[in-house]
Amino acid sequence: MVVASQRKLSPALPRERRAWQQARRADAEKAPDQGPGARYGIIGKDPRTIEVISLIHKVAASNVTAVLLEGESGTGKDLVARAIHSASARKDKPFMEIGCAAIPENLLESELVGHEQGAFTGANSRKIGLFELADGGTVFLDEISELRLDLQVKLLRLVETHRFKRVGGVEEIQVDARVVTATNRNLEEAVHQRCFREDLYYRLKVIPIHLSPLRERRKDIPLLTNYFISRLNTEFDKQIRGISDEACELLSRYPWPGNVRELRNVIERTIILGDGDRILARHLPAETRNAERGARVPGLHATSPRLTQDGIDLEQLERSLIRQSLELTGGNQVRAAELLGLGRDALRYRMKKHGLFQMFRRRSAQSGNRGRYSDSVAVRSGAAASGGPTVA
Ligand SMILES: Nc1ncnc2c1ncn2[C@@H]1O[C@H](COP(=O)(O)OP(=O)(O)OP(=O)(O)O)[C@@H](O)[C@H]1O
Ligand SMILES: [Mg+2]
Repeated sequence: MVVASQRKLSPALPRERRAWQQARRADAEKAPDQGPGARYGIIGKDPRTIEVISLIHKVAASNVTAVLLEGESGTGKDLVARAIHSASARKDKPFMEIGCAAIPENLLESELVGHEQGAFTGANSRKIGLFELADGGTVFLDEISELRLDLQVKLLRLVETHRFKRVGGVEEIQVDARVVTATNRNLEEAVHQRCFREDLYYRLKVIPIHLSPLRERRKDIPLLTNYFISRLNTEFDKQIRGISDEACELLSRYPWPGNVRELRNVIERTIILGDGDRILARHLPAETRNAERGARVPGLHATSPRLTQDGIDLEQLERSLIRQSLELTGGNQVRAAELLGLGRDALRYRMKKHGLFQMFRRRSAQSGNRGRYSDSVAVRSGAAASGGPTVA
């Protein structure tokens, strides 16, 4: 496969952002075969990727103010959050992003809603928080599962009323910001473990968008590979012309526990360290060369529990894994069985044994058997453009 050279991967400075977006649009026009999300830098033509792009357009064209992005690390949640913003009428207003795990707990509230002068020791002047700064635009709260319980209460009120008070303030402030949240943890599990408020969970997941792991949308792998070769050629001033069919086949088989981020890193390493003008199988890292069809995700083995003198409740462990497999696959029994290395009948037997059958049958019936994530979408605006909005 041969790929054309393209422009720089991302802007180093905010002022380059507009030029970068223009370059990205031009790239998308030159390479329409990269899929309907290319204008946002979201490459892929797998039906699941196309469904995500369609959800982005529907959400962007609607007035919904809370969206939850769920997916493993590296599946593209940041990209989707930005795409929702740039595809919407809010695109000329701020996009404010914060990682809930990255900010010390005691500072997070003030980052989000600001504070008044003298609100606490060290608050020497008034600070305007993220929500106020994002008025008219979008707030992206990453790693939402890490939000402290008391802040969860405040966020719920904020999402419901669009009102809040700065820390130490008395004045009610009204903002119009769409709240996009993201998690790579299973929030439903977190609710069961009482680490995450159920009311907030249901409020945030009015519009859930599930990003499938790369191993479940293998059709995207060759497209992404060529895309990264083009982009990284420019970034590292290389002239790699493409990838051999054998190497591409190996990449398509590998289970990608780190998802698209890992694929990008592998291409980067290969481009920097490889010789010649094509990526060959021998240039690939050992783990991808050794991948076998249907190989299991290494991370899953790595996190297998170790038996200690305390013992283990095997039944409970089995129930939890089965439940997780059904949640990961939106209740799709064939795919859930595949994840567990079981036949479908064996899975159904175990679902009955653990009382999970009714729960997941009810869920899939409610969603018309098409997966729970996409079908719980209730976009309130009828303005979802058939061809999708254009991006400035
Ligand atoms: N469909 C895609 N097309 C092109 N690049 C992608 C795609 N999906 C992800 N990427 C790239 O993969 C990398 C990881 O994506 P991103 O940061 O959006 O993942 P994430 O889901 O937010 O991960 P984390 O949970 O670790 O924050 C980025 O470099 C991003 O540009
Ligand atoms: Mg992210």
